[in-house]
Amino acid sequence: MRNALFPAEGRPWPEVRAELHARQADDVRWNEGRMLTSSYVIDGDHVLLLREASADFLVENAIYAGEFASKPGTGFGSLVGLRDELLAMVLELFNAPAGAGGTLTSGGTESILLAVLGAREWAKRHRPKARAPRIVVPRTAHAAFDKAAFYFGLAVTRVAHGRDGRADVQATADALDDDVIMMVGSAPCYPFGVFDPLADLARLAEGRGIWFHVDACVGGYLAPFVRRLGHPVPDFDLGLAGVWSLSADLHKYGFAPKNLSSVLYRDGALRELSTFSFRDWPAGAYTTAGMGGSRTGGPIAATWALFHVLGEVGYLEAARTIMATRDRLYTGLDRLGLRVHGRPELGLVSYGSDTLDMAAVADVIDERRWSIGRGLEPDRIINLINPINAGSIDAYLDDLEAAVVAARAGRRRSATAAVYTRG
Ligand SMILES: Cc1ncc(COP(=O)(O)O)c(C=O)c1O
Repeated sequence: MRNALFPAEGRPWPEVRAELHARQADDVRWNEGRMLTSSYVIDGDHVLLLREASADFLVENAIYAGEFASKPGTGFGSLVGLRDELLAMVLELFNAPAGAGGTLTSGGTESILLAVLGAREWAKRHRPKARAPRIVVPRTAHAAFDKAAFYFGLAVTRVAHGRDGRADVQATADALDDDVIMMVGSAPCYPFGVFDPLADLARLAEGRGIWFHVDACVGGYLAPFVRRLGHPVPDFDLGLAGVWSLSADLHKYGFAPKNLSSVLYRDGALRELSTFSFRDWPAGAYTTAGMGGSRTGGPIAATWALFHVLGEVGYLEAARTIMATRDRLYTGLDRLGLRVHGRPELGLVSYGSDTLDMAAVADVIDERRWSIGRGLEPDRIINLINPINAGSIDAYLDDLEAAVVAARAGRRRSATAAVYTRG
C-alpha cells in the first residue's frame, strides 16, 4: 500500500532546494545581521568555513571514534585526534589544573545535564546526609538546571538575585542545608548578562563541601578574549579555587556550528561519574561520556578548523568588534532614554525603561523583522551582540527609535508573551 504523505517519486535536487529556500522566506535574516539574539555569526567567510568543514565530516560518526578508531581503516581515528586536541585547547583556555578532564557535548543543556548527573552520583557516595538531594541556583540560572532536576529526580531552589541581577551570596548561604549537593553560578546569566559573584559562591561551596558548577555556556568562549583586550572580567573558570565543573558552549561565542558545547571538570575522575557503561546485550561493550549515541563528526571538525583558521588573533578581533558594537548600542540607548540593567561584562545586554511599556516597544521591533529576546521582571529587551551586528546596529537603533516613539504615543502591547523557547 502506498503512503499518502511520503513522496512516491523523487524530484531533482535543484527543484527541492528551491522549495527549501522558499520556506525560509519568513525566517529572520541573520546573514543581514537582523538577529540580535543567538546567531553567533562573524561574517560570510566564517559561515562558509563552517559549512565546508562540517560537510567534510558529515558522514563520520563520533560514536565510532573509540575502539574502532584504534585499528587503521576501521573507524574514525581522525575524530579522536580532533576531539582530544580541541579538549586540550579548551582546558588550557579555561585554566584547568593538571588532571582535569572534559567532554564535548551537543549543547549547553547537555553539558549542564551531565554536570548535574555527576553531582548526583558524587553525592550518593560523599553526601550521605542528603536524603532529598537538591541543587541551589540563582533565580537567573538557565532553565536547563530545572530540566536536569526533572530528569534526574532532584529538587531545585532558585534563590532571589540582587537588584543588579547578580546572585545574592547571603541568600544562597541561607538556602543551604544537608540536602544540598550542588551550587551554581553563571558567567554570565542569560536574563541580565551579568556575572554572579563566583569567587564568593565558590568559597561558600568549598566551605560546605558542595559541588560548585559555573555555567559559562553563553559567555565562556568570549570572556577570556574580552579580558585580554583589557576589559574587566572577573575570574570565572577552573583557575578559581572551588569551581568543580564548568559548562561553556562552543556553538555560542566559540562561533562553532551547532551542536557543540564543552563540560569541564577540575578532576577528570568527576567526569567518570556521568559516563555510561554497559555490556549486558549481544553486541559487546557500550560506553558513552555524553547523553546521546551516534552523532556527526561535523561540528568537532569544523570547530577544530575554526580554531586554526581564526587563531587567538581572530577571536580577539571578534571580541573587539563585539565590544565596540555594544558601545554603539549603549550610545543609542542613552539617546533614546533606555536604561541598561546592571553592568554586563560581555556582549549580552538587557535594557528597559521606567516609563515605557517595553513589551509594546518589542512588538514594534518584531514587526520590523528583527530577532530580539524579551525579558521579564521587569519587562525588558535582551540583545546578544555578535560581529555581524556591527553592520546592522545603526539600522536597529533607527527601528528602536521608531518603536520608542510609538510606545510614547500610547501604543498598547499585544498578547505576545516573553518566550525563551517552544522548541
Ligand atoms: C547561560 C546559559 N546556559 C545554558 C544555556 C543552554 O544552552 P543550549 O541552548 O545550547 O542547550 C544557555 C542558552 O542560551 C545559556 O544562555
